[in-house]
Amino acid sequence: MFDLHGMTALVTGASGGIGSSIARGLAAQGARLVVSGSNAEKLRVFRDELDEHTPQHLQEVDHVAIACNLSDPDQVEKLVPAALETLGKIDILVNNAGITRDNLAMRMKDEEWDAVIRVNLESTFRLMRAVTKPMMKARFGRIINITSIVGTTGNPGQMNYCAAKGGITAMSKSLAQELATRNVTVNCVAPGFIRTAMTDVLPDAQKDALNTKIPAGRMGEGEDIAAATVFLASKEAGYITGQTIHVNGGMVMV
Ligand code: NAI
Repeated sequence: MFDLHGMTALVTGASGGIGSSIARGLAAQGARLVVSGSNAEKLRVFRDELDEHTPQHLQEVDHVAIACNLSDPDQVEKLVPAALETLGKIDILVNNAGITRDNLAMRMKDEEWDAVIRVNLESTFRLMRAVTKPMMKARFGRIINITSIVGTTGNPGQMNYCAAKGGITAMSKSLAQELATRNVTVNCVAPGFIRTAMTDVLPDAQKDALNTKIPAGRMGEGEDIAAATVFLASKEAGYITGQTIHVNGGMVMV
């Protein structure tokens, strides 16, 4: 079950905390990957490491690193064509990259709003738009967008981030309806609090306070997000579209 052998995937933010877990998870199930990110050197090192997670019988499969700054629309427009040229097809697109620029609404600067909308929301739109035609032609596709629990609940100090994540959810439902008859599914995975660089910066007291609100009693791991992503990427998940899987240890039940 959930065998991705013969499938190809493009993963953004692939050398980050959650993205690297997702990339390892997809590779472990047999997919060939284009890993993308803004830091070319970090990405190259990660690509090499990824081979270790590729099953023995697929060791001839070479994963590819393509750097792309998602805050630059010109670079974003070139990413899918470059990945297609390398892989021949894109079966799975995982829009994982994301940033935060937190501030209370009354202090939020235009640049903080713009940066988050551009990287989190606009690049996701551009990449989804770019894979739509090839996936429709192939009559197969899996688009998985990594959103956030706060896209559903809202969060003080994150008006920009919540707008972007909520926007991705609504955008995904729209595209899911456009593509459903073509065997192309569009879904989201909404993490709760996951242990990564993004959450490592929180003070310990805040982390402890957060843990008391999580019925599972702990923060999640990147592997928890990877598991849901691998499932949605699989052939077995073909009748699931326009949905969000919340992976949050029960913190919010929707
Ligand atoms: P991270 O900071 O470890 O990774 C983010 C990735 O995005 C990095 O690889 C980074 O290089 C990439 N990225 C950032 N700006 C970019 C740009 N301009 N161009 C290209 N790539 C860029 O963060 P983490 O935690 O792994 O987050 C991954 C996703 O999960 C994000 O979309 C985030 O919003 C989401 N998320 C994370 C949660 C958490 O608790 N860590 C909770 C809910 C959602």
